[in-house]
Amino acid sequence: MKTIAVITGASSGIGKQFVKLLRKELDIDEIWAIARDEQKLQELKKKAGRKIVTYSLDLSKASAIAEYEQILKEEAPKIKYLVNSAGYAKFCSYQDLSIQETVNMIDLNCSGVVSMTLASIPYMAKGSHIINIASQAAFQPLPYQNVYSSTKAFVRNYSRALNVELKGTGISVTAVCPGWVRTALYDRAIIGADKATTKFVGMVSPEHVAAKALRDAKRNKDISVYGIHTKLAHTAAKILPQRVMMKIWLMQQGL
Ligand SMILES: NC(=O)c1ccc[n+]([C@@H]2O[C@H](COP(=O)([O-])OP(=O)(O)OC[C@H]3O[C@@H](n4cnc5c(N)ncnc54)[C@H](OP(=O)(O)O)[C@@H]3O)[C@@H](O)[C@H]2O)c1
Repeated sequence: MKTIAVITGASSGIGKQFVKLLRKELDIDEIWAIARDEQKLQELKKKAGRKIVTYSLDLSKASAIAEYEQILKEEAPKIKYLVNSAGYAKFCSYQDLSIQETVNMIDLNCSGVVSMTLASIPYMAKGSHIINIASQAAFQPLPYQNVYSSTKAFVRNYSRALNVELKGTGISVTAVCPGWVRTALYDRAIIGADKATTKFVGMVSPEHVAAKALRDAKRNKDISVYGIHTKLAHTAAKILPQRVMMKIWLMQQGL
C-alpha cells in the first residue's frame, strides 16, 4: 500500500511550500497535488519531480469531491498528510459581491475543507495529520472581509473540535492561523473596492508559515500561529472584547 500526502491549493503559496517540504519525507511515495489550473499543476510537477501526481479539481463543487472519493476508492492509499490549503479571500464590502460570489467562498473555504477531510479520514491511521489552513482572520470578526473571516473562524473551530473527536485514533488536526503571507492570494482578493483592506503589516513568507505548521502538526498541536504580529493579535483577541478588536482593525486599516 502506498503512503501519500494530499495537498489542496498545491500550485501556489502556502500549499506549494507544503509540496516542497513533504516531498523530502522518505516514507511519502506520492504527493497528490490538487488545484484548478492544469497548466500550473504541470509546471509544479516539472519542478517538484517524480513524486507529484496532479489532479485538476474545483473543490468548491460537490462533483469534484465525488471524483476525489472515487480516486481514493480505486487507489486505496494510506494518507499520512492531508493539507487543506485551497482557499481565497475578497477584500470588499458585502455589497460588492454577488450572492453567488459570496457563497462560493464558503463552498471552497468551509465545505471544501470539511468534504476533503471526511473523504480522507477512512484512509488515515495512527500518525496521520490533517493540516487545515485557517487564518489570523479567525481570531475576530473582520468588517470588509466579513465572509472570509467567518469562513476562517469556521475552519479554526472545526479543526480543533475534530482534533478532540479523533483523540484515540492517533490522527491529529491542526488549524494553521497565519497573518499576512506573501502569496498570490492578493491577486484574487483585491478587486478595487472603495472600502477594502489595504494595509498588510508584518507580512511573512509562506516558507516560514508552512515549516512551522508542519513542525506543530508533528507535535500534534491543534493550532499553529507563526510570527510576532499574529501571536500578539492572538493574545489580544483572547483578552479584548470583539467590539474593541473590530475598532482597532478599522482604525489600523483606515476604514
Ligand atoms: N496569503 C495570506 O495572506 C493568507 C493569510 C492567512 C491565511 N491564508 C490562507 O492560506 C490558504 C492558501 O492561500 P495562499 O495565500 O497560498 O493563496 P494562493 O497563493 O492564491 O493559493 C491558493 C491555491 O488554492 C487553489 N485554489 C483556489 N481556488 C480553488 C478551487 N476552487 N478549487 C481548488 N483549488 C483552488 C489555487 O490554485 P487554482 O487557482 O489553480 O485553483 C492555489 O493553488 C488559503 O486558505 C488562504 O485563505 C492566506
